[in-house]
Amino acid sequence: MLSNQSQLLARNLDLFEQGEWLIINPADAYFTDQLSDMPLEVLHQYFDVFSESVRVIHSHSMDTRDVSEDPSGFCVSQKVSKHLHTFAPFITGERRFSDVLIYIPKAKHQLKMLLTMAGSVLREGGRIHLVGENKGGIKSAAKLATDLGPAQKVDSARHCSLITIEVENTPVFRLEDWLDERTYQVDEFEWDIVSLPGVFSHTELDDGTRLLLSKLPNHLNGNILDFACGAGVIGSYLNKLQPHLKLTLLDVSALALFCAARTMQANGVTGQLLAANGLHGVDDKFSHIVTNPPFHTGVKTDYSITKRFISDAKRVLAKDGTLHLVANRFLPYPGLLAEHFSQVRPLAQTSQFSVYLSLK
Ligand SMILES: C[S@@+](CC[C@H](N)C(=O)[O-])C[C@H]1O[C@@H](n2cnc3c(N)ncnc32)[C@H](O)[C@@H]1O
Repeated sequence: MLSNQSQLLARNLDLFEQGEWLIINPADAYFTDQLSDMPLEVLHQYFDVFSESVRVIHSHSMDTRDVSEDPSGFCVSQKVSKHLHTFAPFITGERRFSDVLIYIPKAKHQLKMLLTMAGSVLREGGRIHLVGENKGGIKSAAKLATDLGPAQKVDSARHCSLITIEVENTPVFRLEDWLDERTYQVDEFEWDIVSLPGVFSHTELDDGTRLLLSKLPNHLNGNILDFACGAGVIGSYLNKLQPHLKLTLLDVSALALFCAARTMQANGVTGQLLAANGLHGVDDKFSHIVTNPPFHTGVKTDYSITKRFISDAKRVLAKDGTLHLVANRFLPYPGLLAEHFSQVRPLAQTSQFSVYLSLK
């Protein structure tokens, strides 16, 4: 289904008739079908829309070493007719686009980074277009872009607006301007986290994650899945403390996977990275899953991803496998866990969070 943002764009197809276009983070896999006659590049920082757009890839894995040493990060590309779809954290290379369209993200810092990235591949005299929901902050997004050049509203409908910026000052994107590296601490243990704008826990350890880490057993064995790994906070903590573990870190976000690779490297540990939408297309077996799963989409609370994850988790757990999960204590996870696991034990509770241990 076309997202509201894409429905607004579909009223403005003449905009796309000329130029060399890059589209960043389309909210759905269907708008680009309306542009099938023209060549364009699409950068997806999120694997769900990427895999739907290329209609084949269910999950994709890479080694943390390869990703942390490659400045372009976790990257996979596929051509669909005249369109080149790339799942990656960054767009780099020559100034080759006349127009870049960004579906604005929720996090302002991520948008700032995207604007710089977009500007750095834009030709002289090029334009950046922003599309987003009015309640998703499109007005303030336009303000953020004023350093680049004058902005003008082109259209609005479906509770969304489309804004065009005539770029006069083309910026240069330098990864080191955006990377944040700092040390987190739980009890006496310290480890390093590398993060970027738009990645969960950016610059601060989440209280739920902290509670989960303080309740994890000291002696785990076998293959561990850090599901929805973000910057790799949980996986790197576990592997630094228990180096014999085989870690897999999974996330839907290319920015998160890139940071997770850098975080693993910063702590002198390695593992496997998996780009996936939930556990869709994940065939490996794990002895243990540890997670602080997602529950927000847009401005509403949405636990459908975690609901699906809980029902799929048993499939990827080995015999006698366990799931450690932290969540906002008001979310209805105990019932869901009990539907799929033989035993569910609460391990800790604060005014905000609960940690559950579930046995297969
Ligand atoms: C609450 S954060 C936890 C991050 C990290 N584990 C921590 O504790 O700092 C949830 C993570 O879920 C990821 N996520 C959202 N939707 C997802 C999906 N469909 N499949 C996999 N990961 C997803 C987000 O990118 C985010 O990194």
